[in-house]
Amino acid sequence: MKNEITLSVIKADVGGFVGHSAMHDDLIEVAKGRLDSVKTQGSIVDFLVTSCGDDLELIMTHNKGVDNKDIHQLAWEIFEACTEKARELKLYGAGQDLLADSFSGNIKGMGPGVSEMEIVERESEPIIILMADKTSAGAWNMPLYKMFADPFNSAGLIIAEGMHAGFRFEVHDVKANKRIYFDTPEELYDLLVFIGAAGRYLVKSVSAKDGEIAAASSTQRLSLIAGKYVGKDDPVCIVRCQGKFPAVGEVLEPFTMPQIVEGWMRGSHYGPLMPCAVQKATPSRFDGPPRVISLGFQLANGHLIGPRDMFDDPGFDEARRLCNTLADTLRRHGPFEPHRLPMEELEYTTLPQVMDKLGDRWEEIPE
Ligand code: F6R
Ligand code: MG
Ligand code: MG
Repeated sequence: MKNEITLSVIKADVGGFVGHSAMHDDLIEVAKGRLDSVKTQGSIVDFLVTSCGDDLELIMTHNKGVDNKDIHQLAWEIFEACTEKARELKLYGAGQDLLADSFSGNIKGMGPGVSEMEIVERESEPIIILMADKTSAGAWNMPLYKMFADPFNSAGLIIAEGMHAGFRFEVHDVKANKRIYFDTPEELYDLLVFIGAAGRYLVKSVSAKDGEIAAASSTQRLSLIAGKYVGKDDPVCIVRCQGKFPAVGEVLEPFTMPQIVEGWMRGSHYGPLMPCAVQKATPSRFDGPPRVISLGFQLANGHLIGPRDMFDDPGFDEARRLCNTLADTLRRHGPFEPHRLPMEELEYTTLPQVMDKLGDRWEEIPE
């Protein structure tokens, strides 16, 4: 009999400590307390609560499948309880990502970020959960491409029998609300036409050619939900490793390159995505630079054996140093592009108000 297990990673910024830089321990305790009792009742198999910057990350395993109302409602209620605690402590931006007044069946589209997958646990099931702060949902496009389609990153694409056939990418156009699938390596160039534009086309999932899910990301774009800037998406992603999937080291390798992502100060600047240990994911310099953390687990009948803090490794020191060097260069551009996002990308920040205010003062240039 197949024994399916669902992994749900649901996250929200419900209040920062101090400013937008980190998480207060009391919020983690509130979330843990609630999940502990739900676990005792048997509604979930296991959980881990952590944070990346000002984002509260709920990692849960259960047997209810993806998009399950009970699980989504549970996460929503935890975020509400944590918001209450954040209000009590007067933390910054309490309830920031809870864009709806009350829960309405599926937490997607209500503010929090969601990444889920239902799997049949393998003989041994290593997984990596990636979580980022001060950046947007498109931040996983390049890393997922490298893990699953770039032989310069993943040696297994060439020399591992199980990976040689390539993978299938599910890409969402989050502006038109459409999706498309690309097979790699056959359609590599077509895939790149779209996912290179990571503000609009997001890699939602990757599967092996036999259909088995390998990776799933959160694609919620807060600004598209709210119609204005209300904070950055700060996405999460689940990746299965080893065997027919990339090795743990192939999943982490893309983060040795200081990828330039959108986010950072006021969600309006490009900056390098710095891989760091959970304890170091507390962005303070110019509210950044953007961070990515990775927790590794072995699943054992749905139990999360771990975590291992995978970027807490001197092997990533040079990546961090490169990020700081790049951060210096970009910061020196101040309000100029390409540090500041281009006009179209600033559409959802305060810029429209400034433009409106000055609208009348623009006059025709005489011939
Ligand atoms: C970026 C972020 C911060 C804030 C900035 C201003 O994702 O969260 O950089 O945008 O600190 O915050 P407010 O507008 O809340 O004062
Ligand atoms: Mg915040
Ligand atoms: Mg955040």
